[in-house]
Amino acid sequence: MRILVIHGPNLNMLGSRKPEIYGTKTLAEIDSLLQKKAGELGVELESYQSNHEGYLIDFIQEKAKGAAGIIINPAALTHYGLSLRDALEDSSLPVIEVHLSDIQHREEFRKHSVIAPIARRQISGQGWQGYIAALETLTALLSEGKHEQPSR
Ligand code: DQA
Repeated sequence: MRILVIHGPNLNMLGSRKPEIYGTKTLAEIDSLLQKKAGELGVELESYQSNHEGYLIDFIQEKAKGAAGIIINPAALTHYGLSLRDALEDSSLPVIEVHLSDIQHREEFRKHSVIAPIARRQISGQGWQGYIAALETLTALLSEGKHEQPSR
């Protein structure tokens, strides 16, 4: 079973980007912790980061067919990325939305997520451990067979 892990704009700078908010781990370190967890859970992960919404969409369109689910930190696209949201919805895959920081307790504009309505869960404010929680949540959902799209 293959799971896509997608990281949005500026997350390539993790480690040095506002460590007091996003933590000190680099994206490569987070990806490798995820790979370790995936090994324990017996799932395969494919990670991708881009600073460009269109490239994220190309990745989803290209990879969705062979995947069972998506973990995504859409970064700032969370708040306005409607074409990213459409691509995620069109994939028909269960989506778990992750944020390192607690987006409900920061600037006002961060409180609204355009991705949340099409995601099965939003995990926010748990730092890098939130990605691990997302992987556990998604694999549990998939093994329970509860991966139908939410009704809207
Ligand atoms: C973020 C929160 C977003 O508001 C922000 O634009 C990011 C990272 C997080 O992981 O906390 O780039 O998604």
